[in-house]
Amino acid sequence: MRALSGKARLAGVIGWPISHSRSPRLHGFWLAQLGIDGAYLPFAVRPERLAAALDALAVLGFRGINVTLPHKERVLALCSEVTPSARRIGAVNTIRFGEDGTILGSNTDGFGFIENLRAALPAWRADAGPAVLLGAGGAARALAVALAEAGVPEIRLANRTASRAARLVDELGPPLRLAEWDARGDALDGAALLVNGTVLGMAGQPPLELDLARLPRHAVVNDIVYVPIETPLLAAARARGNRVVDGLGMLLQQGRMGFEAWFGRKVGVSAEQRAAVLAT
Ligand SMILES: NC(=O)c1ccc[n+]([C@@H]2O[C@H](COP(=O)([O-])OP(=O)(O)OC[C@H]3O[C@@H](n4cnc5c(N)ncnc54)[C@H](OP(=O)(O)O)[C@@H]3O)[C@@H](O)[C@H]2O)c1
Repeated sequence: MRALSGKARLAGVIGWPISHSRSPRLHGFWLAQLGIDGAYLPFAVRPERLAAALDALAVLGFRGINVTLPHKERVLALCSEVTPSARRIGAVNTIRFGEDGTILGSNTDGFGFIENLRAALPAWRADAGPAVLLGAGGAARALAVALAEAGVPEIRLANRTASRAARLVDELGPPLRLAEWDARGDALDGAALLVNGTVLGMAGQPPLELDLARLPRHAVVNDIVYVPIETPLLAAARARGNRVVDGLGMLLQQGRMGFEAWFGRKVGVSAEQRAAVLAT
C-alpha cells in the first residue's frame, strides 16, 4: 500500500467472519491502479456489535463500507435512507456515510450481475425469453429484482425450500413465477437464461444436479458461484454448446458503485484485476 496522507479517503468491508473476503483485493487493485490516497480495510464485526461498528466507522470519517454476511439484512434497519432496489431485495451491501451523519444503504449485487452479463455477452438481451433462477437466498433475491427490473418477461424461480421461493414470488409478483425444485429440469423448456443463485457447485458444497437436456442451445448459463470459477454446471453447459458466464465478473462489477462513491473515480473491470483477485 502506498503511504497515506492525512487526507486519505477510507472505506472497508464488515462481516463475520471476514478473512475470506476478496473485497480488499478487489478495491486495493483499483486504489493502486489509480494511485489514490486512500485505503480499503477488512473488519471482523460480531453480529451484536453491528450498530456500534457503524457508528465508529462514521465517527472515524470513513466514506463508506461494504456489508457482507451475516449483516446484509440486519443493517437495513440501521440505515437512514435505503434505495428502492435494496428495499425490494431486503438487503444492503454498500453504505455511504453522509457528512451530516446519515447512513445511505444500497445493494449493488443486481447491478453487478447485469453488468457482468452485458460485459461478457454484449449481445445479451433481457427480453430474449424466460429466465430460470435457482435459489431464493440473499443473492437470488438480488438477481430476481435485477432480472425483473432489466425487463426479463418471465422468471421461473425454483428453490429447495419451496416456501422461501413462494414468499419471494408473492413479494415481487410478476414476472416471477414459482417452479418446482424437484422438476427444475422441466422448467428449462424454452428458457433463454439459466442462473444458479444457490451455493451448489461452490467448493465444499455438493454439485448442482440438473439435467440440461431441455435447455435450448442458444440459452445463456450464468453461475454466480465463483469458487471455483468453472463450476460443474458451467462445464456441462459449455460442453453442450451453451454460452456461459462465470460469477467472478459479478463480484468485480458490483464493487464499482461503492468505489466510485467513496473514492470519487470511475473504474472498470479488467483481466488484470480478475487475476489479482483470483490470486487471493
Ligand atoms: N458472484 C457474486 O458476486 C456473488 C454475490 C453474492 C453471492 N454469491 C454466491 O451465491 C451463492 C449463494 O449466496 P447467498 O448469499 O444467496 O446464500 P444464502 O442466502 O445462504 O442462500 C443459499 C441458497 O442455496 C440453497 N441451498 C443451500 N444448500 C442447498 C442444498 N444442499 N440443496 C439445494 N439448495 C441449497 C438455499 O436453499 P434453501 O432456501 O432451501 O436453504 C438458498 O437458495 C454463494 O455461493 C455465494 O458465494 C456470489
